[in-house]
Amino acid sequence: MDIEKIKEEALDKLEDIQDNVDLESFRRSYLGKKGKIRELFSLIKDLPIEEKKTLGQKINQLAREIEEVFLLKEKEFNKEEEEEIDLTLPVKPTELGSLHPVTQVMREMERIFQLMGFSVVEGPEIEDEWYNFDALNIPEGHPARDALSLGKTFYLKGGNVLRTQTSSAQVRYMQKMKPPIRIIVPGKTYRYETTDPSHETNFFQLEGLLVDENVSVANLKAVLKKFLEEFFRREVEIRLRPSYFPFTEPSFEIDMLCTVCNGKGCSSCKQSGWVEILGSGMVHPNVIKNGGLDPKKYKGFAFGLSIDRPTMMKYKINDMRLFHSGNLNFLKQF
Ligand code: DAH
Repeated sequence: MDIEKIKEEALDKLEDIQDNVDLESFRRSYLGKKGKIRELFSLIKDLPIEEKKTLGQKINQLAREIEEVFLLKEKEFNKEEEEEIDLTLPVKPTELGSLHPVTQVMREMERIFQLMGFSVVEGPEIEDEWYNFDALNIPEGHPARDALSLGKTFYLKGGNVLRTQTSSAQVRYMQKMKPPIRIIVPGKTYRYETTDPSHETNFFQLEGLLVDENVSVANLKAVLKKFLEEFFRREVEIRLRPSYFPFTEPSFEIDMLCTVCNGKGCSSCKQSGWVEILGSGMVHPNVIKNGGLDPKKYKGFAFGLSIDRPTMMKYKINDMRLFHSGNLNFLKQF
């Protein structure tokens, strides 16, 4: 048994090894259960005791030496592997998204009303017919309740509706709160529409409601003028145009002097010099009553505006359908 030769051979092999896979097969063939070292021990098992002892020591020595070099090699490989993680490499850039333009505008509107003391609240999108219509003085048979003509309401099985207006939250909150009530309700609304550049079946509105003692049209006008000036970041001129909503009396359409032509008349304002911006009015006594309050004691004003339209005005977007298109080239601009 030429232990020296075996040792030389083993160390030569070890030296040539380049990776962990070969190193592992070396370990098995020399140091493993069925490896060379075990084999040597079994060869000397029947020798006389003295010889067995000396040879045994030599084999042990051999095993130790091989193992020592083996461990060094193993350490070297694993160190190299660790070094493959290069901590100085720059991080791959992740693509950051951005808030949808309608969300951005909604938050800006919320911020402005909050500064004026309004709370931001939400109402359900699947609405009880009573809150969407009856509570707002829109009785059964009123054309606004139609599914297909004026009303454009989506009715659900069981009688609920997808709210056609955020106004449906008005009476819900009047029932819950004690005056003074100062809330805005931003959110999605639904109507059965043929879509075109300025109509969608799903759009956003922002409702406002203030109920207190001694509330007048002057308060309504002041709050809305201030809001529009903050939103458009410039002085604005508004006018109240008589209108009709079942839940307000009197009712107004609020127009803003066209910011593009300053009232001269242009294509943005259909040559009229004014842009219709929101609906509003003094809360109808029946609505105050439906909210569980005494209309002799409490008055209020309410308003409702589209969030989509001012977003289009602000960013000069010419087609409302882009908002829901999922078109990243469009969305990435905001
Ligand atoms: N709900 C109305 C609409 O969808 C908007 C509106 C008009 C809301 C007058 C109001 C209001 O609160 O007083 O067209």
